[in-house]
Amino acid sequence: MGTACYVRGGMEIVKRLSQTLGVGVGETTPDGKFTLEVMRCIGACGLAPALLVNDRVVRQVNPDKLNRVLALCG
Ligand code: FES
Repeated sequence: MGTACYVRGGMEIVKRLSQTLGVGVGETTPDGKFTLEVMRCIGACGLAPALLVNDRVVRQVNPDKLNRVLALCG
């Protein structure tokens, strides 16, 4: 939720993640696979909106890419 990610739709990505995973920010899914956390900036502003999945940066996230990332992780 740093400035670059925020202005490029980061809040919508957080909402979609929350809806898809069924957890709020700071919560973990019942199976323990996902914890949804919001950070100010992960140092990838040029790739915004960006996610950090474990130690990997996912660049220029959009809803389609988000679904693919979750499918790969699930
Ligand atoms: S604001 Fe998102 S990576 Fe910097």
